[in-house]
Order: sequence, then C-alpha cells, then structure tokens
Amino acid sequence: MKGRRLKKKPILILICSIILIVVGIVFTVKTVKELNYRKTYEYKLIKIGYTKEEANQLENKTNNTFLDSLLTKEYDKVYLEIINEGYYIPSKISDYVNYYENNLNSSSYEVVEKVNAGADKEWYSDIKDTDISKDILMINNKFYKLPNDYEPADLVDVKNWYAYGNNKLRKEAYDAFISMFNAAKEQGHTIIINSAYRSYKDQEDVYNSYLRNHGQEYTDAYAARPGHSEHQTGLTVDVTTYGVGNSSFDTTDEFSWLQDNAHQFGFILRYPEGKENITGYDYESWHYRYVGVEAATIIHDSNITFDEYYAYYIENA
Ligand code: DAL
Ligand code: ZN
Repeated sequence: MKGRRLKKKPILILICSIILIVVGIVFTVKTVKELNYRKTYEYKLIKIGYTKEEANQLENKTNNTFLDSLLTKEYDKVYLEIINEGYYIPSKISDYVNYYENNLNSSSYEVVEKVNAGADKEWYSDIKDTDISKDILMINNKFYKLPNDYEPADLVDVKNWYAYGNNKLRKEAYDAFISMFNAAKEQGHTIIINSAYRSYKDQEDVYNSYLRNHGQEYTDAYAARPGHSEHQTGLTVDVTTYGVGNSSFDTTDEFSWLQDNAHQFGFILRYPEGKENITGYDYESWHYRYVGVEAATIIHDSNITFDEYYAYYIENA
C-alpha cells in the first residue's frame, strides 16, 4: 500500500505542474493580447464613445494623424457623417476637419461640398494652372487659371442663325449645341447664343467694364477675372431667347426645357441658384458649360456643381 502511494505522488506533482504551466501560458497570452488590444485605435475610439463598427469605419476611411487628433476630442457623430458622405475624398480629411471646426453649424454634406469645390479657401487664393490635358473636362474657376494666351485649337465660327453677333466655340461643343438647338426647336423653343468663346483680352474688357460700372464685389459675383473665365475654354455659351434679357431668362420655357434636357446634350447649368458659395458666382440661368453627356448627366442627376464633380471624378480618380 505504502509503496503505491509513494509512486503516485510524483505523478500528481507532474500533473499539477503541467496544469499550472498551461494555465500560466493561457493567462499570459490573454494578458498580452488584451494589452495589445488596448493599444489599438478601435479600443481607444470605443473608450470615447464610438461603437466598434464606427471605430472600424473611422480606421478604414481616414489616417493615423486624423485618428490621433480625434482621440483628443469628445465623441462627435459629424466626423462619421463626413466620412460616409457620397463624395467624401479621404485625402481631404484634414481640410474637412478644419472647415467643420471653424463652421460648427455646417452639416456634413455642406462640409464635403465646400471643401471639394475648394471654396473653403478665399476666392482667388492658392491659384493653380488649369489642366488643359483634361480637354472638355478642364476646369477654370476662381482657383484655376488658363494661360493668358490660351486659345483652343479647334474653334469654329457659330453661324448667325444660332447667335446674336459673331461668336466662336470649340467644334465638339458647337456640334452638341446644334443638336440641342434642334431638339429644342422641335418642341417650339428657340435657344440663341449671346456669348461663347472669349479670349483673355475679351474677358479683361468684360471684367473692367463691370468694374467701372458696379464696383469690385458685384463684379466678382458676376464676371470672372481674366484667365479665370470658362468662356476662354471655348466650351461655354451664354444663351437667351427672343425678347428677354439675362436676368429674366429663367422665367422662359426655354430655361425650363434646358433644365430638363441640357445634360442629354452634354451641357450643364454652371452657376445654379443656391450654389453661390460653392461656385463663387451668383446664379446665372443663362450660362451653360459643355462637359460631355456622361459628366453632365452625373452633375444633373446628383445636383452637384462641376467644381465638385472635378474634385471627385477627375482629381481624385
Ligand atoms: N459670368 C461668368 C462667371 C464669366 O465671366 O465667365
Ligand atoms: Zn457666361
């Protein structure tokens, strides 16, 4: 009996030791895992109120610099709304944050649209060269400028049948305009070109004439500074119909027809009502820009400006 008990003891000690070692290893592994998890953004974001899913979205759609700064702030759902906006561009996250924090009443939609258009900056600041290689999708606005001597290579004369006075347009835009003119005409509407291509010098004359008559603020709301006008691209038309001036064009059937149909011919209303703080110009019911059918349809259907389209679909592509 005694001998058997003596033999059992070392086995018991061995089993207990193994159990202790296994428990120790499991405990250590768990502790290390937990300590590592506490170092993650997910853990830290959950600690300040974000759900696991929100934390994962923030991690996937932003960067560490942003996440580090987010951890110094209280929970704010607007950051989540911003990164989930349809036109959110990840590389612009710090600009969205800056704009939002200086304009706390803005919605996430407003933050993204403003920053994407570049309109969170002062007009005519941080000016870049217009990328002419983008062809019919080139942008020319208060932040992009064409060279003073830029003149499109394929300008054609607009027949007087379609216009008041002598005008030129780029061939592709002119062909599209004629198709649009004919389609409108079939429905009893007449769309007449008032102004199309304008050289740098032409625009300088327009701008200076406004300036003489109306002062700086009004002028900058209605006329582009030379080099910044879309008219210099040869892709833009100011239109009218019989017997109305610019200011009442939006009361005409022709305007309503363009609202519904211009995009099908590749034209967009470039300075819409309600988007003045995005485009930098007052509402111009007469100014249409040719961008091609694909872009025009997206812009029309999503109710965005070309400035936003360009940031998301061209620069961000
Ligand atoms: N009226 C528009 C903004 C232009 O001058 O090009
Ligand atoms: Zn115009």
